Amino acid sequence: MQDLSDSSVHLVVTSPPYPMVGIWDDFFREESAESYDAMHSYLNQTWKEVKRILVAGGIACVNIGDATRTKEGVFHLYPNHSRVIETFERLGLVTLPYVLWKKPTTKPRYKGKGAFLGSGFLPPNAYVTLDMEYILIFRNGCLRTFEPKDPKRYRSKFTKKERDEWFSQVWTVTGTRQTHGGLERRVAAFPEEIPRRLIRMFSIEGDLVVDPFLGSGTTLKAAMDLGRRFVGYERLGDFSGIIRERMGHDSERIVFQKQSVTEQFSELSV
Ligand SMILES: C[S@@+](CC[C@H](N)C(=O)[O-])C[C@H]1O[C@@H](n2cnc3c(N)ncnc32)[C@H](O)[C@@H]1O
Repeated sequence: MQDLSDSSVHLVVTSPPYPMVGIWDDFFREESAESYDAMHSYLNQTWKEVKRILVAGGIACVNIGDATRTKEGVFHLYPNHSRVIETFERLGLVTLPYVLWKKPTTKPRYKGKGAFLGSGFLPPNAYVTLDMEYILIFRNGCLRTFEPKDPKRYRSKFTKKERDEWFSQVWTVTGTRQTHGGLERRVAAFPEEIPRRLIRMFSIEGDLVVDPFLGSGTTLKAAMDLGRRFVGYERLGDFSGIIRERMGHDSERIVFQKQSVTEQFSELSV
């Protein structure tokens, strides 16, 4: 994210490829990071950049799930979310209460058979199913400050109903609409409602929103619709088509660079 200057971003909303999840095995093998630790070291490079680019009081929201693996015959939980929290704490960000996103579409299966892992109905050797993902929330230092009655802030306010729903800990948001031959599933895209809520909750009109792991561009689409400025990064060029399509008639406002997708706006020379 070298093209972004220090302390220039108000909100980061992202979902990284995460360790020990089958669909990402090839990706991490390619990066020659085989172990859980090495995989988190790869992600940590991005978290360090997130700290650098955030303004004082800026927020980072990271959607990540835990994972399970049987290694050498032993079934084991890999708590990705706690690794990410540790890293952000080490970098000096403040950990805020997080959201648990309950995904009704997640059908846990074991060896393609049942919905539950372990020994069926016999105690004590069955395992709890992972059917939640985390949306971790961090703040860069103290609260953001605003001029009294800042018009953009007031125009960005949410309703009581929205506040009651969004600021509760469990979210039930249904899965992503598959519109591009299953590409959204392959990239583990989140439903647009997730970045839409986070952007409304943690940024105001005109703020700069960044997604370092863009995939199909869901965060950019939501940021654009909500009148925020946006920048995103994606290592695979294959996604530029779907991103362009999702941004619709506004896609001419976007510039595709080698790895980043950015709106043309004055603060960045692109
Ligand atoms: C979980 S997906 C993001 C899905 C996205 N939230 C969506 O709704 O489509 C993670 C993405 O990060 C990309 N990625 C992994 N490492 C990257 C890196 N170093 N820089 C940019 N993108 C990267 C992967 O190619 C993948 O598309």
